[in-house]
Amino acid sequence: MVSARPAVQALPAYKPGRNPADLAREIGVDRAIKLASNEVAFPPLPAVVQALAAAAGASNRYPDNGALVLTEALADRYGVDPAQVVPGAGSVMLCQQLAQSYCDPGTSIAFAWRSFEMYPLLAQVAGARAVQVPLVPGRPDGAADTHDLDALAAAIDDTTRLVFVCNPNNPTGTAVRRAELESFLDAVPADTLVVLDEAYREFVTDPDVPDGLELMRGRPNVAVLRTFSKAWGLAGLRVGYLVAEDPSVAEAVRKTHVPFSVSSLAQAAAVAALSGDEEVRERCAAVVAERGRLTAALEKRGLEVSESQANFVWLPVGERAAGLAAALEARAVITRPFAGEGIRVTVGTPEEDDVFLAALDDALDAVP
Ligand SMILES: Cc1ncc(COP(=O)(O)O)c(C=O)c1O
Repeated sequence: MVSARPAVQALPAYKPGRNPADLAREIGVDRAIKLASNEVAFPPLPAVVQALAAAAGASNRYPDNGALVLTEALADRYGVDPAQVVPGAGSVMLCQQLAQSYCDPGTSIAFAWRSFEMYPLLAQVAGARAVQVPLVPGRPDGAADTHDLDALAAAIDDTTRLVFVCNPNNPTGTAVRRAELESFLDAVPADTLVVLDEAYREFVTDPDVPDGLELMRGRPNVAVLRTFSKAWGLAGLRVGYLVAEDPSVAEAVRKTHVPFSVSSLAQAAAVAALSGDEEVRERCAAVVAERGRLTAALEKRGLEVSESQANFVWLPVGERAAGLAAALEARAVITRPFAGEGIRVTVGTPEEDDVFLAALDDALDAVP
């Protein structure tokens, strides 16, 4: 038998998310809803569908490996040099490229925990130590749901090559504010790269939550990750991007790019989406309004809900998480449980969220 590397053998096996059609069939209902992956419920913009149709005809050709048109559109949008921008096959792929570009065995990657599930896995694959800094309560008497930036800064040592700050944080939805993030960045050594993972930036409404791209200016050890998967509605196409203050960071990340991994369809769709940013803004505003309605409805039921700046809400239900999520699934609603900690629920359409709330009322009776 050919053995995989020990680090790979130790990785948990991939567990695909539940498919709503399969679940509906299994429990004998017409329809199940999925509020588990932080997608938006809106279909792609009409301009995106048109761009995809036009690009489909050239699918016999490889894509532009440098994604030049998209890179320039992003550079233009954010007022940076194209040399600072790297598109990738989803921002998760860029996370992996960062680890490949910066981490040798013996180095470390620091991040809050709980946070985006990929961070510990990509550290493990790179042979780097994952330094996980526990979240702290964001509100008095609240559950641990917020970055502890002082502890994160203290956890950095001379092995730390990368620090991920997921802002807003997945799965808790909480965000760190400008003053604390600025003092954190001031405290990080110049030879440690801070990656501000802003996958949910477009849903932020608190003016005190800084735009990472503004904070990055003048700080050569800071880079920002964003994605077209969430607000822009292109999760199925796999495209995200990194913007680095120091072009040498972008250059290093480009070197670990899997050739042609950003497809021509993804590139064309992302460029078309950028030209429809007004519509995207309106869609985000609708998601934010629904986030408020959903949060209020949950709080009315006596549940604690973290202060979300993203397109999902976090219910820190602790030991009840797995049982509650299973009871919701039995009622045709798929959420994302984290056993012993809580449940993450994507903000759906008002109609989907009403189905969720009715199922939750029932499930809370079953799993008190
Ligand atoms: C915090 C965070 N970063 C990155 C990603 C990856 O997004 P994608 O690879 O679809 O761009 C996700 C996806 O859920 C996320 O939650």
